[in-house]
Amino acid sequence: MKKEELKFTIEVYDSSDELKEEDAFLLSEARSVTQFAYAPYSNFQVGAVAKLVNGEMVSGTNQENASYPAGICAERSLLSAAASNHPGVAIETMAITYNNLKGESNTPVSPCGICRQSLSEFQNRFKKPIRIILSGLKGKVQIIDNAGYLLPLAFTSEDLK
Ligand code: THU
Repeated sequence: MKKEELKFTIEVYDSSDELKEEDAFLLSEARSVTQFAYAPYSNFQVGAVAKLVNGEMVSGTNQENASYPAGICAERSLLSAAASNHPGVAIETMAITYNNLKGESNTPVSPCGICRQSLSEFQNRFKKPIRIILSGLKGKVQIIDNAGYLLPLAFTSEDLK
């Protein structure tokens, strides 16, 4: 038996003021698209904006449904939009934020389990790690270099061979 340690590093900033201009812009766009979320059931509006490797921007928001499981998260709506409207173009960086209409929105939240699986598939498919920026409408910002770190020991297409 041997033990293997899985490690990753995240960057933590006190606020978006400390970010480089490009990242601050992406996060501010993500904060702005939270208003397009349809979240009448949770009142938790999530916004995601990604910069593609060709410089184009794509956004996604959560879209809920009276039949709760039919709703989709912001991250997966972004991934679908990116693959459908910019076929074959990888994502470089994705900023994810939220507006909690019932409370505070000042600490980062990170993607749910299903979105982690979708992010993992997307970056394997496009052979490019997705850089992730996480923050609320204000406050701390976390940056992770590779969305794969969010899903250690992921199940992938390799496992189906
Ligand atoms: N949600 C997202 O859009 N992304 C996440 O990573 C976490 C959760 C949405 C799903 C649902 O519409 C609402 O937030 C509350 O769970």
